[in-house]
Amino acid sequence: TALTLLMIVLAYLAGSISSAVLVSQLFGLPDPRTQGSGNPGATNVYRLGGRIAAILTLLLDVLKGTIPVWLSYFLGIEAIFLGLVAIAACLGHIFPLYFGFRGGKGVSTALGAMLPIGLDLSGLLVITWVVTVFISGFSSLAALITVTLAPLYTWFIKPQYTLAVAMLSVLIILRHRSNIIRLIKGKESRIWDKGKANE
Ligand code: G3P
Repeated sequence: TALTLLMIVLAYLAGSISSAVLVSQLFGLPDPRTQGSGNPGATNVYRLGGRIAAILTLLLDVLKGTIPVWLSYFLGIEAIFLGLVAIAACLGHIFPLYFGFRGGKGVSTALGAMLPIGLDLSGLLVITWVVTVFISGFSSLAALITVTLAPLYTWFIKPQYTLAVAMLSVLIILRHRSNIIRLIKGKESRIWDKGKANE
């Protein structure tokens, strides 16, 4: 329907707002697109020295996913199309309209988009990410492990959303190509190696 299409477009437009770039400007931090890993995301904002800025970036990027999906749900849009709204928000974050189509990797926004599925699923995802980060120190590896497990978790908790979640996972894994290469080469920087560039 027209409403579904409108929500997909709105989700893309909301996703296109690069929180990392805007928050970094607000806090007078270096541009995350050119410094550190070059990725406009919470991890790189943290790496560039902004703890509070990173939390704010994370929060805003999560909301970009949550708000369009929640809104669509309340407007009565069917389950299969909610998945498309979620994907649109992440595509906005990854290929932002207002930032030359050069965006982030979609981890926070995907988490936000999955939040309406339930606190059990999102809780499990957050725990998986946090545990992996604490053990390994790699934000990227934590994201990769979490999104690999996400479709499996979803299958057990809300099977009807497995396909949409799997699509988000594939998108995120593809965006971590450079991280995967650095991880294999042993060149990825750990989250506590603040300020260190890793390219
Ligand atoms: O959310 C992106 C994260 O998984 C990796 O970020 O800056 O280390 O490439 P970064």
